[in-house]
Amino acid sequence: MSNNKVQIFDTTLRDGEQVPGCKLNTEQKLIIAERLDILGVDVIEAGFPVSSPGDFTSVEKISKLVKTATVCGLTRANKKDIEVAAAALKYAKRPRIHTGIGTSDSHIIYKFNSTPEKIIERAVQAVAYAKSFVEDVEFYAEDAGRTDNAYLAKVLEKVIKAGATVLNIPDTTGYCLPDEYGAKIKYLKENVKGIDNVTISCHCHNDLGLATANAIAGVQNGARQIECTINGIGERAGNTSLEEVVMILKQHPNLNLDTGINSKLLYSTSQLVQESMGMKVQPNKAIVGENAFAHSSGIHQDGVIKNRETYEIINPSDVGVNESSIVLTARSGRAALAYRAKNVGYNLTKIELDDLYPQFLKFADFHKQVNDEDLHHLMELNHVHKTAANF
Ligand code: KIV
Ligand code: ZN
Repeated sequence: MSNNKVQIFDTTLRDGEQVPGCKLNTEQKLIIAERLDILGVDVIEAGFPVSSPGDFTSVEKISKLVKTATVCGLTRANKKDIEVAAAALKYAKRPRIHTGIGTSDSHIIYKFNSTPEKIIERAVQAVAYAKSFVEDVEFYAEDAGRTDNAYLAKVLEKVIKAGATVLNIPDTTGYCLPDEYGAKIKYLKENVKGIDNVTISCHCHNDLGLATANAIAGVQNGARQIECTINGIGERAGNTSLEEVVMILKQHPNLNLDTGINSKLLYSTSQLVQESMGMKVQPNKAIVGENAFAHSSGIHQDGVIKNRETYEIINPSDVGVNESSIVLTARSGRAALAYRAKNVGYNLTKIELDDLYPQFLKFADFHKQVNDEDLHHLMELNHVHKTAANF
């Protein structure tokens, strides 16, 4: 595999589906899994098989359905979880077991009432046991973001020896700053024996709004897998957003990192997940939000009408959005009014535009937006007729 390739590990159906109210049935999960495969993700984390019979069935059916991506099932570091995950993944063309344990002081002391040495033992046993079922075993060091680097390095060295192929370094609580998370990955790259033979993975949460920035810092420092979800959904404030990391790497060719994702399917995939989960993204969501390619202030509209790139760094068609939109509001200028009027059939002269503009503003001051129907009405009131050439 090229050293410039960043693997995309999608966990919409596992970390994403943990969100209250986002529960999906098996049928919906199959539709999303098939779409993720077509989108070009490298790994689909299909669920946590031991958590419920429904989740087991979903992982099993996804394993049968998915043609290209690796299908992954989550486990804790115990035999039963691993056996159940292995059974659910039995039909996968490329199965992966994702097992692990908490490594921060708070996990070791309060969650497990254990010691650092015993946690290493459990981690090694879990990886070795998973390895007896599948070749591809990913180990997560839960709360790695708040784990002491020297101890983390020790755990990772042992699980590599036990057969781990991927090392997941989760910032489980979303606490790290990007330079801190990047430095952690760099430290591991430089201090863990055998790390060059495995893939380092970033799994970042968004509690401080840094999940995407942290994942990017991770790959800039040597990680080659990003765990992410469509629309950034996930526990609490969510996970790294798939569409954001894909477009960041695409728009910054100087990073020399590539995901292989078909970006033209990003918008429709986002819509599919929003509809299936009944959870809309906020309008200002990067890449896939309703306003991501909408321009409403007069200054911006004038710039975009003259040359799209004045205010847009992404061509909307690159993410499957038809075109940028010029939204008419009380902040819009003459250029926007003329542009939108032309779109619905009126090629306004300068005199017509000067006459109409004050009336348009009066109307817009009392409405959030001026739509096509309102425009027709405004033209009718002012006896402006459609331009023959357009029809
Ligand atoms: O956030 C986290 O630490 C996780 C692990 C289970 C991978 O989701
Ligand atoms: Zn997580």
